[in-house]
Amino acid sequence: MTEFPEVVRQRRMVRRYRDEPVDPRVVERIAATALRGPSAGFSQGIRLVVVTDAERRRRIAALCDEEQYVRAGFGRWLSVAPVHVVLGVRENDYRERYAEADKASTGGVERWSAPYWWVDSGAALMLLLLAAVDEGLGAGVLDIQDPDALRAFLGIPGDVTPVCLVTIGHAAADAGPVGSARRGRRPREQILHYQRWRTTPPR
Ligand SMILES: Cc1cc2nc3c(=O)[nH]c(=O)nc-3n(C[C@H](O)[C@H](O)[C@H](O)COP(=O)(O)O)c2cc1C
Repeated sequence: MTEFPEVVRQRRMVRRYRDEPVDPRVVERIAATALRGPSAGFSQGIRLVVVTDAERRRRIAALCDEEQYVRAGFGRWLSVAPVHVVLGVRENDYRERYAEADKASTGGVERWSAPYWWVDSGAALMLLLLAAVDEGLGAGVLDIQDPDALRAFLGIPGDVTPVCLVTIGHAAADAGPVGSARRGRRPREQILHYQRWRTTPPR
C-alpha cells in the first residue's frame, strides 16, 4: 500500500498494458473500493460491469473502435488490458430516492445545482482509478461512443447509462504520458483561488 498523496501523484491514464492477468481478488478489491463513494441522498446509483473474459474484451474493444487508437499510434490498449470495467449510473435511483418523504420536501432533484448522478459517477471513477494504482496497477478511461451497442452486448438495462469504460492492468514499461496529457497542467493561479476569485490573464 502506498501513501495517499503518492497514489494520487502516480495516477496517469495508462494506454499500454502487459498481456498479463490480474488476480481476481485484486479485481474484487478495486471494485469494492469504487463502490464506497458518496452519493446524493445515499441513492447509490452507481453500477459496475467487470469483464475479464478475453473474447468479450475483444468485442468491447471493437465496439469502442480500438482501431481508431491503433491508427493514432496507441496500439491495442483496449483488448490487451486484462480488466474492463463499465461504469454506469441509474438516474432513476436518484429520482426515486428524492421522491421519498424525507427528500421530497427539499424540492427534489430539480433543485440541485448539478445533476448529482454525474457527480457521483465522477467520484466512483476516481476511486476506481486510485484503487487500481494503490494495487500497483494502471488504469485508463475512455468514452463509450455507442452506448446502445455496449448495452445490448452486456445486457445493461435501458435505464442505466454507461458513463465510461475503464481499462485496468499491469502498465507497460513505456506507458508514459500520451495524447492530451502532454498538454501540461494549467497554471495554479488560474484554477485555484483563496478568499475570492482573482482574474488572471487568459493563456
Ligand atoms: C471523463 C474522461 C473521459 C476521457 N475520455 C478519454 C477517451 O475517450 N480516450 C482517451 O484516450 N482518453 C480519455 N481520457 C483521458 C484524458 O485524456 C486524460 O485524463 C488527460 O489527458 C490527463 O492525463 P492524466 O490522466 O494521465 O493525468 C478521459 C478522461 C476522463 C476523465
